Amino acid sequence: MASQASSANKPTKKPCLITCTGKCNPYRIGMEPRPCLTGEPAWRKLQEYFNNKGSKFHIRDLFEKDACRFGRLSLKLTTPNDGDILIDYSKNRIDEEGLKLFFQLCKDRRLIEARQCIFKGAKMNFTEGRQVLHTALRNRDPENNPILVDGKDCLPDVKAVLEHMKEFSDQVINEEWKGYSGKPITDVVNIGIGGSDLGPLMVTEALKPYATKLKCHFVSNVDGTHIAEVLKKVDPESTLFIIASKTFTTQETITNAMTAKDWFLEKAGNEEAIKKNFVALSTNKEKVTEFGIDEANMFGFWDWVGGRYSLWSAIGLSICLAIGFKNFEKLLDGAYFMDQHFLNEPLEKNAPVILACLGIWYSNFFGAETHALLPYDQYLHRFAAYFQQGDMESNGKHITKAGNSVNYHTGPIVWGEPGTNGQHAFYQLIHQGTRLIPADFIMPVRSHNPIGNHHTLLLSNFLAQTEALMKGKTEEEARKELEAAKMRPDDLKKLLPHKTFEGNRPTNSILVRKFTPFTLGAIIAMYEHKIFVQGIIWDINSYDQYGVELGKQLAKVIEPELSNDDEIKTHDSSTNGLISFIKENKLK
Ligand code: F6P
Repeated sequence: MASQASSANKPTKKPCLITCTGKCNPYRIGMEPRPCLTGEPAWRKLQEYFNNKGSKFHIRDLFEKDACRFGRLSLKLTTPNDGDILIDYSKNRIDEEGLKLFFQLCKDRRLIEARQCIFKGAKMNFTEGRQVLHTALRNRDPENNPILVDGKDCLPDVKAVLEHMKEFSDQVINEEWKGYSGKPITDVVNIGIGGSDLGPLMVTEALKPYATKLKCHFVSNVDGTHIAEVLKKVDPESTLFIIASKTFTTQETITNAMTAKDWFLEKAGNEEAIKKNFVALSTNKEKVTEFGIDEANMFGFWDWVGGRYSLWSAIGLSICLAIGFKNFEKLLDGAYFMDQHFLNEPLEKNAPVILACLGIWYSNFFGAETHALLPYDQYLHRFAAYFQQGDMESNGKHITKAGNSVNYHTGPIVWGEPGTNGQHAFYQLIHQGTRLIPADFIMPVRSHNPIGNHHTLLLSNFLAQTEALMKGKTEEEARKELEAAKMRPDDLKKLLPHKTFEGNRPTNSILVRKFTPFTLGAIIAMYEHKIFVQGIIWDINSYDQYGVELGKQLAKVIEPELSNDDEIKTHDSSTNGLISFIKENKLK
């Protein structure tokens, strides 16, 4: 097994791979339009390899032929204090020849240069002309690694916001920060959506064992039910509202924030009280103050932090309140550990690179449409939802840097539920359906709740599923079982095809000793980098989200149409008909 020594506290200083001749702009390397992916020599070789070998592999045979397969196709990352992280990718329909072709493809797509560039502040978000620097937010070696934004090191600003977050969260947790009437804060309501909700929500759920005594609630949906139900549970005097919005213009968030403010003012009486019970996390100071939140209660961040990569920024304030600032720092440490792994390890031993290549293998060669994330940890019940946005909003694109349409598939549909619930819901289709569904099983070896034999059962289910998906059950094995059960030959013949499992369903197993803030941070960062690698290979911009805009624009047109009594004829007949139905029924 390839082993990597801890690098979190002692970052390996490696020479910069970018050799600047003075004529080139190093921040542009890795950002130039790439040749068409399917025309790349390495891609063609992969296609040949797929046709001649890859498509014919059965993973069971690969294991039978090679007793050391696990040893060579798995990685162990040793963290400083939180045990090892194991990434077992041996249960895949590929051998080392195929992986080698993928590493060549990565090199040809200039991944090594791009990886350096993103960390240094290249404007990887090329459609918006923005740097992509969420890694700067968790840079744990700021003295030695300045990161320039408009010619100025951004790390002192990052540090200043972190200090503000620490000071504030400590005060709230220690009951030194009081609500407007002098009562300590008992409840925190984070109002945000997308990246301003999913990350903090997922992490606070995942790290519940580290919870402070503050109760955290999350409101995201513009459906009034969401805020109504949360407001029923809290008292304005002891509730802190966090308005989390990078832009501070998002319709859902501002609507919910206004509702919360009205509800609060009804009891508090005067706007001054807002100073004590409302804070904002945003890049938009003007809008924050316009809303009535004191500038001193604003935690800033910057346009170089993408919404779906923002939990490491001020957007993580609810995490600090939920688990304490020290644990938030450990989350950052874990992410930094993975950043160093991704940045410094060769492609062959690089977890995000390997996972990215395997994803492309199934999406682009086997035609897999989806990718399942299956955490065997109840605390991680929002993990798949979080990476649904992380992955699908990042790589759900079809235009390359040169502005051409791709002639291959890009981001997969990401979905999943925690084990073992998923086993009793959708695993049937993974085992015996017609579609190939590559899946990542995410498993902590130790439970935070070691009750009876629960965790042993959970572990054995995880192991059984990955083994069964890989091996399947041959006709011969199924026949023997039915014969042993004394089934009549006629019945046996009828039942046999139903009882046979092809297997050959690929899985990755990602194991941590325990889900701690550190290991969770590392795993999140691992998936972030996987998304980046895929974006580089597919030659798309993983950091904009224009696709979300169209619906938002149309909703703005429709809203006033719903509020008047006119018959609406401006849309297609379906939309007009739906509007009419809604209006008729609204009046009744
Ligand atoms: O869904 C689109 C999006 O822009 C996401 O990228 C972002 O996380 C979310 O909306 C919320 O945006 P904001 O933080 O600006 O309110």
